[in-house]
Amino acid sequence: MKSVVIQQPEQLAIEERPIPQPQAGEVRIRVCSAGICGSDVHIFRGHNPFAKYPRVIGHEFFGIIDAVGDGVENARIGERVVADPVVNCGHCYPCSIGRPNVCTELQVIGVHRDGGFSEYACVPARNAYLVPTRIPDAEATMIEPFSIAANICAQVKPQPNDIALVYGAGPMGLTVIQALRGVYGVAKIIVADRISERLQMAQDNGADRLINNTNVDVADVLAQENIRPTLIIDAACHPSILPQAIALASPAARIGIMGFSSEPCVLNQQSITSKEIAIFSSRLNSARFPQVIEWMTEKKIHPEKLITHSFPLEQVRDALVLFEQDQKTCCKVLLSFHQ
Ligand code: NAI
Ligand code: MN
Ligand code: ZN
Repeated sequence: MKSVVIQQPEQLAIEERPIPQPQAGEVRIRVCSAGICGSDVHIFRGHNPFAKYPRVIGHEFFGIIDAVGDGVENARIGERVVADPVVNCGHCYPCSIGRPNVCTELQVIGVHRDGGFSEYACVPARNAYLVPTRIPDAEATMIEPFSIAANICAQVKPQPNDIALVYGAGPMGLTVIQALRGVYGVAKIIVADRISERLQMAQDNGADRLINNTNVDVADVLAQENIRPTLIIDAACHPSILPQAIALASPAARIGIMGFSSEPCVLNQQSITSKEIAIFSSRLNSARFPQVIEWMTEKKIHPEKLITHSFPLEQVRDALVLFEQDQKTCCKVLLSFHQ
């Protein structure tokens, strides 16, 4: 089988590898389609602190179960499935309270262990979720990115009367915007980004106020219009954003962050406590695939709007480079397998 292997930073190869045998408790997925994410590029470029090399990348993938290991029902062969990349131990403190995404032994498929940019991938059977037939293959590949939005929304609990501000209109910001609009019915969604094409996408996905902050300050624009956001999601993740978000937020606002920068950001207690601001963080997803599958089945979200490109597996390098360099036209770039 062909597998996309990052042998070490900057060294990508399509290797011929033996088809893996599912171990006890695992299923083998014959991969049909996979999505490129910023973190795949980070592993390729050597910027992911968690990655070990060589690594088969890819944590957003859809396919068909074609073999099962000991202890897994044979009836699962033939199921259309997506893989939740979060592999957890099941008995540590976070696992015991339903937070497998921050398990002390967390293993992320495509980061800590081999992933889905491969013609076949073995995953724990419980990580393979059945996809209803009304969700097409390409859209099923989008379940993982929407699980990130589902997780941060579960943290901040959006309400219809919120005035939401989303920083960043990349794939993450856009999935959050779709969820705020289509699932939670949030009344007003303001989006800030520096790329006008991405702001246009934000509008197409449900935002109703766009701020291009290349030359203006988001705080100034909102102050002039006397707008105090009650819910802020930082999907741009620059360390300068959280202090600004705290400053411009309404009293009693909630703020959700999802960045991994190790750069410090300067905060003071007064700005948070005087308005009793709540700050939440969100990592990956804690068993949110069933919820996202329900959103897609009920057409509350529209994954097809976010898929801008598709390439055959053989062109993975071109696909990664395009995704990395062309933020104006790329949102989700998919790879297709077994042509
Ligand atoms: P992206 O890089 O495609 O999008 C970020 C967007 O933010 C870009 O459009 C950029 O122009 C905009 N931006 C940057 N600085 C800005 C600023 N100061 N003000 C307004 N807009 C600004 O990235 P993607 O894939 O959408 O992911 C967003 C962030 O979420 C990344 O930092 C990523 O590491 C993080 N992430 C976190 C996850 C989690 O589970 N916590 C999962 C996936 C991504
Ligand atoms: Mn991803
Ligand atoms: Zn655990």
